[in-house]
Amino acid sequence: MAEVSGTAEFGLGKGKVFPADHAGSLLHPARRLVQSPRRTVRATALGSGAAVLELGCGPGFFSPFIKEAIGGGPLVLLDLQLPMLRLARQRTCGAPGIVSVQADGAALPFTERCFDAVFIATVLGELPDPGACLDDVHRVLRPGGTLAVAETRRDSDFIAASPLRELAESHGFEWRARRGPRWQFVATFRSTR
Ligand SMILES: C[S@@+](CC[C@H](N)C(=O)[O-])C[C@H]1O[C@@H](n2cnc3c(N)ncnc32)[C@H](O)[C@@H]1O
Repeated sequence: MAEVSGTAEFGLGKGKVFPADHAGSLLHPARRLVQSPRRTVRATALGSGAAVLELGCGPGFFSPFIKEAIGGGPLVLLDLQLPMLRLARQRTCGAPGIVSVQADGAALPFTERCFDAVFIATVLGELPDPGACLDDVHRVLRPGGTLAVAETRRDSDFIAASPLRELAESHGFEWRARRGPRWQFVATFRSTR
């Protein structure tokens, strides 16, 4: 894993990077009851064999279910924080075909068009410039690839579906669907061009 230096501000407040020492709250069993990771991933309709980037994977709440959905397809777990990546690897039990990358989601260290799908859950609102992140996501997605964004109002950085749609559409994505209620949903987009 590459080292990342940066000036990110960590904390639980709006616009701050969720700190790794609170990772336990993201894995709390109660979360599963209100935001089923299996159902959330299923709503993104990831195909078996797809190459997927989970951007801002945190401690891997969704990661095992993404791997389950794509079977033998490669899964890249990316996060700014190394302790988060370690937890995510533990949760995926060393399954083959998973790579961890410590990097900034707004400066993705990947070549163009190398992923079929990018999954981002409760991360975009923590980035100083979510549009720059979506530009880079667009660059690494193959044309027609899927961007899936999961949001919940329980997160202080919640982005509602309508501003999210506007943001994504202004960065090269076409709206496909929203699954779930307004306060907690998965929105899917198609990469254009
Ligand atoms: C609220 S947590 C969500 C984690 C996970 N997606 C989930 O839903 O359980 C946000 C995660 O995004 C990561 N993150 C924040 N800013 C980032 C950035 N610029 N690049 C990569 N990861 C980032 C944080 O380190 C943290 O692990």
